Amino acid sequence: MNYNVLLKTAYEAMEQAYAPYSGVKVGAALLTYSGEVYTGSNVENASYGASICAERAAVLKAVNAGYTSFTAIAVVSNLSGYTYPCGICRQVLTEFVDDMDIILSDGSHIKILRLKELFPYAFKIK
Ligand code: THU
Repeated sequence: MNYNVLLKTAYEAMEQAYAPYSGVKVGAALLTYSGEVYTGSNVENASYGASICAERAAVLKAVNAGYTSFTAIAVVSNLSGYTYPCGICRQVLTEFVDDMDIILSDGSHIKILRLKELFPYAFKIK
């Protein structure tokens, strides 16, 4: 899949963010190994710690649909600059894949990183 298309899908998902507390809207588009795309956006809560990030929302949807192998995730937000996945989301992605592409956009440029580069020496039980 073309990463520009994946980014566009992430921007569309961002519009569904529920972020009344921070105002930060994040969108993610997760590409599975077999070519499906699952989107997510952040869903905040009055009890702030109960908020869910866009990336994890996408992972949960994919896993609950039976897809646990991923090749890329596009992440965008309404902040300026690139939006890097938080530590918890990096750990959650690492649960399912050894490595994958992380596709970021600041609105005009694209940056492609590898999960292992963003999150080396991850905690794993198996
Ligand atoms: N957020 C994400 O959706 N993904 C990240 O990787 C970092 C943070 C959300 C959580 C919260 O709703 C808002 O951004 C501000 O932290």
